[in-house]
Amino acid sequence: MDHTSSYEPQTKFGKWWDDRLPVARLAHGQFVAFPTPRNLNYWWTFGGILTFFLASQIVTGIVLAMHYQPSGAEAFNSVEAIRRDVNFGWLIRNLHAVGASMFFIAVYIHIFRGLYYGSYKAPREVLWILGVLIFLAMMATAFMGYALPWGQMSFWGVTVITNLFSSVNEIIPGLGTAIVEWLWGGFAVSGTTLNRFFALHYLLPFVIAGLVILHIWALHVAGQNNPTGLDIKTREDAVPMYPYAVAKDAVGLFAFLILFAWFVFFLPDYLGHADNYIEADPLVTPPHIVPEWYFLPFYAILRAIPSKLGGVIAMFAAIAILVVVPWLDTSRVRSAKYRPVYKWFFWLLVISCLALGYLGAMPAEGAYVTWSRIFTFYYFAHFLLVMPIVGLIERPRPLPRSISESVLKSGAGAPEGAAAAPETR
Ligand code: HEM
Repeated sequence: MDHTSSYEPQTKFGKWWDDRLPVARLAHGQFVAFPTPRNLNYWWTFGGILTFFLASQIVTGIVLAMHYQPSGAEAFNSVEAIRRDVNFGWLIRNLHAVGASMFFIAVYIHIFRGLYYGSYKAPREVLWILGVLIFLAMMATAFMGYALPWGQMSFWGVTVITNLFSSVNEIIPGLGTAIVEWLWGGFAVSGTTLNRFFALHYLLPFVIAGLVILHIWALHVAGQNNPTGLDIKTREDAVPMYPYAVAKDAVGLFAFLILFAWFVFFLPDYLGHADNYIEADPLVTPPHIVPEWYFLPFYAILRAIPSKLGGVIAMFAAIAILVVVPWLDTSRVRSAKYRPVYKWFFWLLVISCLALGYLGAMPAEGAYVTWSRIFTFYYFAHFLLVMPIVGLIERPRPLPRSISESVLKSGAGAPEGAAAAPETR
């Protein structure tokens, strides 16, 4: 997008600095004057919400790490000590544990927003793929973080999921076992495993932060998509990011923080599992081993396939398939708002994912398995069949001529606020 910053340093020192390291110019061009489509709705505030949660998880995590003991003997009690003895430790711990769930609620909304409005389509493919990598890194981070309190669900969750790699034995005998023992750092899940999970759990959020920088960079090269899916063509189509998009982001974030606070202060353990307040015991298996809620759809896919190796492949494929979505969608029109047929299939995908989430928490038997198979089938069919075929045969509704027309109904006339957008090109 052709746009240059109109930044002018106000002081002598500012000018001196700008000639040597123009960071303020960069920030002004990218986050103040940057042209944002004038029709963005509240679904576009989730990128900002996610950025807030990434920062919040890193800050609260660092404080927790100052008191946490990553050893099999001390981990469980050190988390209890944080909750009871450390000043405001209960709050920091709740912010971090509940924050992980909020992060996933926000990321699922962000992903489905992208799927609905076709934000993955050209020229935003790399931006989308970076998003999928962020999502994978978030899952790895959350999985290892859940191990750290060293409760029963931590221990048995790690045991079940790491053991999945033993299915590689079905292809190359012995290799699966070797991978699993390499992951464990021994012949069983132990304090050694916990220690390496802690090291990686500390590292990965910084990798995510690096990926997010690339993600936003790619976004600012292509420019933001919007509910019409049309590109910014004229000055009237856009407003400067500050104050318009920033103010809207602030409202969205504030509303989301109310939900966050509700859980932190009133239901801090609601999204976790009660068994994780029982210390890890390798000799006692819990009756139902269930992952955290945000993994449940993938867990349902894993268990829907009758073979262990097949289940593992399907589970990873469910994420990997997102990478090729930009090329599976054959529609000329970006936004599902103008796609009367695809719209219905989109909601069917949402229902399938919610249903898989429910089924992942149920025992893997009887009708639960049958339904898991049906919804797993639809999940893959959506991407592999619906996206390519519906894109070709559907007749989209007429598109507005421009973004401003969609807001103002007629492209003519000075739109309200246009005068306040002098820095938009
Ligand atoms: C830590 C996680 C993430 C952060 C902090 C983040 C941040 C952002 C921000 C700030 C924006 C611009 C505002 C907005 O459109 O909401 C954005 C846009 C976008 N993100 Fe993410 N994101 C994350 C994860 C993901 C994931 C997992 C995906 C997809 C798999 C994704 C796909 C996209 C796409 C396609 C856009 C462009 C949207 C558009 O312009 O319509 N992001 N992201």
